[in-house]
Amino acid sequence: MWGPTGSGKSRLLADIEWLAQGDTPTGRKVLINQETPDPELRFSIEHRIVAQLSQNMNFVMDTRVGEFLKLHAESRMIDSPCIVSDIIAMANELAGESFTAETAVTALSGGQSRALMIADTACLSTSPIVLIDEIENAGVDKSKALDLLCSQEKIVLIATHDPLLALMCSQRLVICNGAVQKVIAADAGERRQLEQLLRIDELVQELRRRIRAGERIEENALEQMLRSEAGMT
Ligand SMILES: Nc1ncnc2c1ncn2[C@@H]1O[C@H](COP(=O)(O)OP(=O)(O)O)[C@@H](O)[C@H]1O
Ligand SMILES: [Mg+2]
Repeated sequence: MWGPTGSGKSRLLADIEWLAQGDTPTGRKVLINQETPDPELRFSIEHRIVAQLSQNMNFVMDTRVGEFLKLHAESRMIDSPCIVSDIIAMANELAGESFTAETAVTALSGGQSRALMIADTACLSTSPIVLIDEIENAGVDKSKALDLLCSQEKIVLIATHDPLLALMCSQRLVICNGAVQKVIAADAGERRQLEQLLRIDELVQELRRRIRAGERIEENALEQMLRSEAGMT
């Protein structure tokens, strides 16, 4: 889902999450398979078909990551001994800085808590549809996050300003003035562009890593990186 700030992306996600029936500021009605959804679906916590990962992830509970996940798994009646460690391992793959079951949830960084919520949603949520508002703002590995959620056979709808993420998706909704203006399906040409963009992105990440590590960037650093990349492939 693609469009300038203020174009209506978050509102559309909220309408879908709420299964709006003309009762939100947009007057939208969300249909499922062309039909008005059963009102039960809107208000049932157990049978929610839409899970939303919001832009702000604030924990108010005073607990540790392991306990939080254990409680959540229990509330979903999932009784698998490794589920908690699996989710933490997955979240650590998504977030740059790692954390453990002993980390207090209130001590997680924005990126870590987002990664935790994504892994939690992939493993514990039974909702077949996942909405994500602007995943790129939070220091999580977006392509891994997308792969993880899609591997659970969920329909993932993302609002984004990130061209890489937009090209990774099978379809793009172009949002303008509060409405979907266009739907663009990815084709072979775009896929090839994506491959090149991913390589460029890797170079940028490497530069970022070096700058963050306090290194000086030599005059021909990019040329060298390109050359060693060409040598590797
Ligand atoms: N179809 C619409 N009809 C009326 N108001 C809308 C519509 N779409 C969005 N808005 C309003 O426009 C404002 C900006 O929308 P928002 O979804 O926050 O944009 P974005 O997430 O793309 O930055 C919000 O106040 C939202 O409620
Ligand atoms: Mg928004």
